[in-house]
Amino acid sequence: MRFPYILAIDTSCDDSAVAILKEDGTIAADIVYSQNEAHAPYGGVVPEISSRKHVSRIARAVQEAFLKAQLQPRDIRAVAVTFGPGLIGSLLVGVQFAKGFAQGLSVPIIGIHHIEGHLMAACGDSSFPSPPFISLIVSGGHSAIYRCDKGYQFKTLGETRDDAAGEAFDKIGRMLGFSYPAGKILDDLSELGDADRYVFPVAMRSKTTLDYSFSGLKNSSRLLIENLKKEHGEIKGKVLFDFCAGLRKAIVEALLSKAFMACRNQDIKHLVLGGGVAANLLLRSEAINRGEQEKIQVYLPPKNHCVDNAVMIARAALRRLQEGQCHSLDFNVLASVSVDITIDQLLGQ
Ligand code: KG4
Ligand code: ZN
Repeated sequence: MRFPYILAIDTSCDDSAVAILKEDGTIAADIVYSQNEAHAPYGGVVPEISSRKHVSRIARAVQEAFLKAQLQPRDIRAVAVTFGPGLIGSLLVGVQFAKGFAQGLSVPIIGIHHIEGHLMAACGDSSFPSPPFISLIVSGGHSAIYRCDKGYQFKTLGETRDDAAGEAFDKIGRMLGFSYPAGKILDDLSELGDADRYVFPVAMRSKTTLDYSFSGLKNSSRLLIENLKKEHGEIKGKVLFDFCAGLRKAIVEALLSKAFMACRNQDIKHLVLGGGVAANLLLRSEAINRGEQEKIQVYLPPKNHCVDNAVMIARAALRRLQEGQCHSLDFNVLASVSVDITIDQLLGQ
């Protein structure tokens, strides 16, 4: 069976994302309806608001994707959708919509793990490696290192014990008065700062574990913010830029030291980055620099495909469909599920 066009949907968190891809990976439509404004006053994603927004927007997002692609539903040969992990109410909206669409068109459906999507976001590049490779996925909900083996079997090598890296950016950004999500704002401000003026702790640096921890960084940021407010009244200008630059340096150092440690430990020369924080300017440039020093090839998704999108879900699904995988219409959503376990294992398919 061939799949000239695939429709992909991701509603795992706060963005309604829809994409249409050609079988050869060409992007025909890439739509993301952001909910940032709706959640910003609360400092983070409110699940109830998120699912309601998906309900009211998903049909329009799909319609817009067809308009952009200049295609009709009859051109679609398969539907892909994120089944988890994520917010349960949000996942349900995307999965039910996708099932209805697939059933109406009598085409196969495939459930994709959100993290597998992030892992495959860089695979539009023709140089993308075949397994085995190491992957660092850093987003608002995840900070983890995976080993990907033949057949795209994933194994978690390390993960955060508390906050995710994006969550740390968002929470510390909030302490500084920025709205959610603050990662990109802090990244941009860091470009203007001196990263060595304020020193932030890099947790678990000396340990052999590949796990992360960002709660200490959050606490030391809170203390430093209190002290800086006492000293300067308001944190702005050079003080703010230097704070952001120091914070970013510490987070990037933590992320990359473990990711490269994993490559060395596993004797693997390919490192794939993904997730919203992979859009970080310092993380991207440092990953390339270290890769050159350590003779490890680094693969980065385009910046707009680091944050949640449906192109990555389509890419993951295309590969699985080419291997003949698809699912029956009765698969369920899973709010919390490791990428080490595939949906096929979960459903015994
Ligand atoms: O992958 P994503 O869209 O959603 C999840 O699956 O969590 O990632 C969103 C996260 C947010 O925490 C956001 O602050 C962070 O990615 N982020 C960044 C940057 N762009 C987005 N963090 C640091 N630097 C950036 N440039
Ligand atoms: Zn994500």
